Amino acid sequence: MTERYKNALKQAESLLRGVSENVPNMANLSALIWQTVERINWAGFYTVTDAGDLLLGPFQGKPACIRIPRGKGVCGTALETGRTLRVPDVHRFPGHIACDEASRSEVVTPVYRSGEIVAVLDVDSPEPDRFGEDEAAFFEALATLLGENA
Ligand code: SME
Repeated sequence: MTERYKNALKQAESLLRGVSENVPNMANLSALIWQTVERINWAGFYTVTDAGDLLLGPFQGKPACIRIPRGKGVCGTALETGRTLRVPDVHRFPGHIACDEASRSEVVTPVYRSGEIVAVLDVDSPEPDRFGEDEAAFFEALATLLGENA
């Protein structure tokens, strides 16, 4: 992971230390990603509802779709597969949900708590193939931190 992401991860650890409430933690992590990762146009969370679908949570960027059914779009697919999903070209992803027409690539990481997915972290970029292994590792580390603090 780059120094920039390592430092941000340390900052995230101190922001979340002793805070078990999800909403402020997701809000702070969205803001931290927004400030740290260059060339992105959306960063935030969808939480898993009791019915098993996704509901918009704290984020940075343009207003977004409120509900995403399980299995739909990049977010719903990451929820179903339980793994980080990197999409280098969203136009080639069947069922991609375009909240912002400018988005070209996307990465979605599940947030686990006690073995269950409680949310997904979604980051979008207007640049094709913006997200590499480094970004995926950074987002997964943030997701783990959030899940452990929840
Ligand atoms: N593109 C996502 C929808 C959420 S927005 O990008 C914020 C998807 O296909 O699931």
